[in-house]
Amino acid sequence: MNATLLLRPPLRRSADTTPALSPRYQPTQLELPYRPSGDVSPQTEPLPSLQQVQSPALISIRNLRVSFEQNGRIVPILHGIDLEIQQGEAVGIVGESGCGKSITWLAILGLLGKQARVEGSARLKDQEILNATPQAITQIRGKRIAMIFQDPSSSLNPAHRIGTQVAEAVALHQGLGRQAAKAEAKRLLERVRIPNAAQRLQAYPHELSGGMNQRVMIAIALAGKPDLLVADEPTTALDATVQAQIIDLLKEIRVDSGMALALISHDLGVIADVSDRVMVMYAGRVVESAATDRLFSAPMHPYTRGLIAALPDLESENGRLEAIMGTVPEAGKLPSGCGFRPRCQHASDSCASAVPPLLPMVQGHHVACLKADVQ
Ligand SMILES: Nc1ncnc2c1ncn2[C@@H]1O[C@H](COP(=O)(O)OP(=O)(O)OP(=O)(O)O)[C@@H](O)[C@H]1O
Ligand code: SF4
Ligand SMILES: [Mg+2]
Repeated sequence: MNATLLLRPPLRRSADTTPALSPRYQPTQLELPYRPSGDVSPQTEPLPSLQQVQSPALISIRNLRVSFEQNGRIVPILHGIDLEIQQGEAVGIVGESGCGKSITWLAILGLLGKQARVEGSARLKDQEILNATPQAITQIRGKRIAMIFQDPSSSLNPAHRIGTQVAEAVALHQGLGRQAAKAEAKRLLERVRIPNAAQRLQAYPHELSGGMNQRVMIAIALAGKPDLLVADEPTTALDATVQAQIIDLLKEIRVDSGMALALISHDLGVIADVSDRVMVMYAGRVVESAATDRLFSAPMHPYTRGLIAALPDLESENGRLEAIMGTVPEAGKLPSGCGFRPRCQHASDSCASAVPPLLPMVQGHHVACLKADVQ
């Protein structure tokens, strides 16, 4: 298998679109609905670049727009994503199914088909990588940005031994010869805590559990010593215990290697556990972004508050969940103005007039809601 296949997105889509709670995290201090107190009025200055706060960013995404041609019609999917990730930072990306979480990274890595129109900018340090040439993007995928997916069995080649697949990635990214690549493959399997690594190199994917295969995928991702690992629902297909082990492994590797992490998950517990900062997406836009503690203790966008209110509270007597009514609008069928309007309890006529911009409310907390300061 060519090692670039590790970037092939899984065929299976996540069935569960409801944000889930891992037993590892219980939100505390939540007072919902949150009523901001103190100085939370939007600043009138344009959105300051995070680069001004911490520089230089590892990756800086500006006004990323993606649309697809469907039956002769252009359907917009992403409507201008802004995101920066600093070196070594872990950013959690959350939102219901269809919000554009995966498309964001597939677009950046040039993995969308010819039907996709990708516009905007994505700078990896000082290099523009959006719509880069095939030669340029090959130097980035796996080497500088690696991506792992929910279902490792759809990314690993069932016909090739684990050792061959890991060694191939090592040879590709590190330019090692056969023997050295094999030795490095064994070291990587040990690094991701696969027991009996030497024997496991001989195994085929179907001989390993889902959790072990996901460890293999992480080993392949590490083969290029990337600056950024994008993990797209890396634990959704795994049972809770294995999920926790994989998350612990990702955290450990991140700390050891200094690699940045973009973690996409429906599980707000996992996001809270791993991320320094959280970005909430809704219908192809970022609607809120803040440091993790801040986002969970003082969410400001009605959508984020809805996601958090939908978490089961293990300490509550009745254990009732408050689901967000309605569903994410289909791509190409967004309402005018704020995309969340049909589901928002605070919506009024003014919310139909314009798309709310993502504005800084307090240090590092950005919200796209016309009423963020008055609710
Ligand atoms: N190849 C495609 N052509 C047209 N539309 C697409 C294509 N791929 C994805 N979409 C649409 O883009 C939107 C965003 O999809 P994306 O896969 O990024 O969602 P997601 O937030 O990752 O959801 P999930 O949590 O289910 O993985 C969805 O409405 C989806 O139907
Ligand atoms: S802009 Fe209006 S509709 Fe949108 S989230 Fe805010 S209050 Fe709700
Ligand atoms: Mg996805």
